Amino acid sequence: NPRLARLEAILDAHEGREGPLLPILHDVQAAFGCVPAEVIPRIADRLNLTRAEVHGVVSFYHDFRDEPAGRVVVKLCRSEACKATGADALAAAAEARCGVAMGETAADGAVTLEPVYCLGLCACGPAAMVGDTLVGRLDADRLDAMLKERGL
Ligand code: FES
Repeated sequence: NPRLARLEAILDAHEGREGPLLPILHDVQAAFGCVPAEVIPRIADRLNLTRAEVHGVVSFYHDFRDEPAGRVVVKLCRSEACKATGADALAAAAEARCGVAMGETAADGAVTLEPVYCLGLCACGPAAMVGDTLVGRLDADRLDAMLKERGL
């Protein structure tokens, strides 16, 4: 299994380090595009942790995914300042436009919708990241145009 061989190489590279779990998880995600459930028992074994402990860390940090992200990732700010400027309506419009619920990836892998909690653009909400582009005062029409530009 080449995937597990790659995992062993990552684990070896962090051998003997202080606090290795987060760096290992980052490397795993960089290598596989996600932290797949199958790697958790092996990581737990090597670090003398329980599977529940490793799983807890993976689910605590929003950056780690358990399946690969879609081709385009849309992150919508769900924090207070953006809510005050229409983030809820924008989220509903994004779900309808993408055909996928917040926090999920479309079945065809084209798009992932992700909630985030502040992008530092609080003065011009609702804020979002569409792919690598940070955007303020986003509305449904502009989102639609940005998705079209990305082939969606
Ligand atoms: Fe949305 Fe800060 S609250 S960017």
